[in-house]
Amino acid sequence: LDDPRLRGRRIIVSAGGTKERLDPVRYLTNDSSGKMGTAIANAAAGAGAEVTLVTTRQLPVVPGVTVKQVESAQSMADTIDAEFTEADAVIMAAAVADYRLPTVSDHKLKKTDATSGLTLNLVQNPDILASLGRKKTHQILIGFAAETNDLLKNAQLKLTKKNADMIVANHVDATHGFNTDTNAVTLLRPEQAPVTLPEMPKPKVAAALIEQLATMLAKQKG
Ligand code: PMT
Repeated sequence: LDDPRLRGRRIIVSAGGTKERLDPVRYLTNDSSGKMGTAIANAAAGAGAEVTLVTTRQLPVVPGVTVKQVESAQSMADTIDAEFTEADAVIMAAAVADYRLPTVSDHKLKKTDATSGLTLNLVQNPDILASLGRKKTHQILIGFAAETNDLLKNAQLKLTKKNADMIVANHVDATHGFNTDTNAVTLLRPEQAPVTLPEMPKPKVAAALIEQLATMLAKQKG
């Protein structure tokens, strides 16, 4: 539903698990389906924002969402960086791999010796949210933290460390978090009491988040 506070606002949303390639046919990834991030993009566009969805997945989007398909954390970082200056807000719902192979083989890797194992040496990926947190000017940054244990403590650490304006602490179990249709989240903001939302389908969680973002944008100076 059209929200005057969001009309014409530029919002970047990321979704899905990144794929970190070993070779042309193999990669490391995680269970993120892109449902949460795509629901957020659709809710924002439905409210009148101009949305860029940077995603590793292909899910249906509504008019007002421009989809940029990416694969690796590095390609997600490059795509978001290219639009960041013009953006009013970035919502990082993607599950970005923290590590990748330093080089991707251009041919399918072969099994060399049936008896020995294989060791992969990984290097760190850029932390997209943290790097946006270092260079933001007016932009509102919202990150997620999906945790199986010590959820609020870990989410609080990410809020500070990544200089975010909000962290959505995401419970992870069989019915919440990765590749589920419902979600359970607690919203953390600097110097504010945590707000726990009831368990809801992801589109409803998305609508609640976009409502929060609209309030934050309306309060923004300038
Ligand atoms: O896609 P779905 O199946 O619907 O699942 C949704 C979800 C559970 C993946 C999503 O709601 C969620 O919680 N995403 C964040 C997953 C996570 O574990 O994030 P993290 O704790 O690794 O990272 C914290 C924040 O930093 C996130 O906003 C992440 O996008 C960002 N990050 C992380 C690593 C990195 N290298 N760069 C980043 O920007």
